[in-house]
Amino acid sequence: MVKKESEATKVTLNRRELLQAATLGAAATVAPQMGETADAASQALAQVGTPAVPTPARVLMNATINGERVSLDLDPRTSLLDALREHLGLFGAKKGCDHGQCGACTVHLDGQRVASCLTPAVQVDGREVLTIEGLAGPDGSLHPMQRAFIDHDALQCGYCTPGQIMAAVACVAEGNAGSDADVQEAMSGNLCRCGAYVGITQAVRQVAGQDGGAS
Ligand code: FES
Ligand code: FES
Repeated sequence: MVKKESEATKVTLNRRELLQAATLGAAATVAPQMGETADAASQALAQVGTPAVPTPARVLMNATINGERVSLDLDPRTSLLDALREHLGLFGAKKGCDHGQCGACTVHLDGQRVASCLTPAVQVDGREVLTIEGLAGPDGSLHPMQRAFIDHDALQCGYCTPGQIMAAVACVAEGNAGSDADVQEAMSGNLCRCGAYVGITQAVRQVAGQDGGAS
């Protein structure tokens, strides 16, 4: 009985040794192949050359903002809205949705209203931007549209108001303020959570009736 256990142990050890030997043998066979594969990949990479040039870290943007020449060194992914707010300290244009859906960030680019959150700052290079901060006269006198918003209580919390006013000025300049319906259609991209739409429409209509509205 003892002899049988001893033999069984001997057989087990032999199997273990056999498995170890097989494993080592397989590794010894695979290792050179892996090494060859790595060498081949290294050679292929060397032939292809270095990876594609990464996105430039910074870009220079020169523009006229509210009548003043500015030069900004920016990450190329910077939006015009972020350039205005975070680099120039112009906080009038608001970040509502940041996806072009609320109009809170509306400014004028070469006289046309744009959603500054969707406008890459680099696209503004060499162009003119007007924000709510540049709308009043040099002497501080309010723009007729600003005055009309006050006259008609066209705001409550005021968050959407800079974008509403910039869009309203453009609406009149575009000739889209001939009726309440025209104004509402032309201003439909500017949302107001406070629901000040009646006053906004009245303000736009008032300015449209003043010599076509000043811009
Ligand atoms: Fe630009 Fe809403 S923040 S459209
Ligand atoms: Fe409050 Fe328009 S006045 S969101």
